[in-house]
Amino acid sequence: MRIDIITVLPELLESPLSHSIMKRAQAKGLLEIHVHPLRQYSTLKHSQVDDYQFGGGAGMVMMLEPIVNAIESLQAKIQYDEVIYLTPDGETLNQKMANQLSLKGNLLMLCGHYKGIDQRIRDHFITKEISIGDYVLSGGELGAAVLVDAIGRLLPGVLNNETSALTDSFQDNLLAPPVYTRPEEFRGWKVPEILLSGDHKKIDEWRHQESIERTKQRRPDLL
Ligand code: ADE
Repeated sequence: MRIDIITVLPELLESPLSHSIMKRAQAKGLLEIHVHPLRQYSTLKHSQVDDYQFGGGAGMVMMLEPIVNAIESLQAKIQYDEVIYLTPDGETLNQKMANQLSLKGNLLMLCGHYKGIDQRIRDHFITKEISIGDYVLSGGELGAAVLVDAIGRLLPGVLNNETSALTDSFQDNLLAPPVYTRPEEFRGWKVPEILLSGDHKKIDEWRHQESIERTKQRRPDLL
């Protein structure tokens, strides 16, 4: 998969996407991430990319031209399956959406700032608008990093144990069961006996039951 990201703050995306699983995905050639600084596409003095909003009001709006230049120059080289705008008024990201996007080939992501982008870009270029939750961030970069991570770890071959994404929370609309590691006992706190039994059928049943219990208690809306 190839993901291109257009942003005014490329530095903000560098670190979250160059460690751990995202690093491995790129090293294995399973995920290519290209970050494009928006200011490079401005033809104005001081590489300006924002301007006052028509109708008045506080806050700047990201201008049409630099974004259109960036999108069109990328589209001339690459066929995108989706052009995604990260915005708090988009569709809320969930596991199902991440699963669906992980099946695509090329994605283009646009990070908003200030009061957002000129509506005409949304009308004419954007195919999908995504929010990572009901709160407002200073910009779309952290949202894009979250989205790339959620998608990238699902690409076949990225996780060591291919089944591990299948046992994550939210797959099957259930939260993941509790997990334990050594030691078997610490300060008198014991690991549930069943996990030490070696009976994998029983362990699977126990885990499934714990998942249902946890989901009932914490996220009954998922059931
Ligand atoms: N930009 C600002 N807030 C955001 C959010 N919640 N999700 C995605 N992009 C954003």
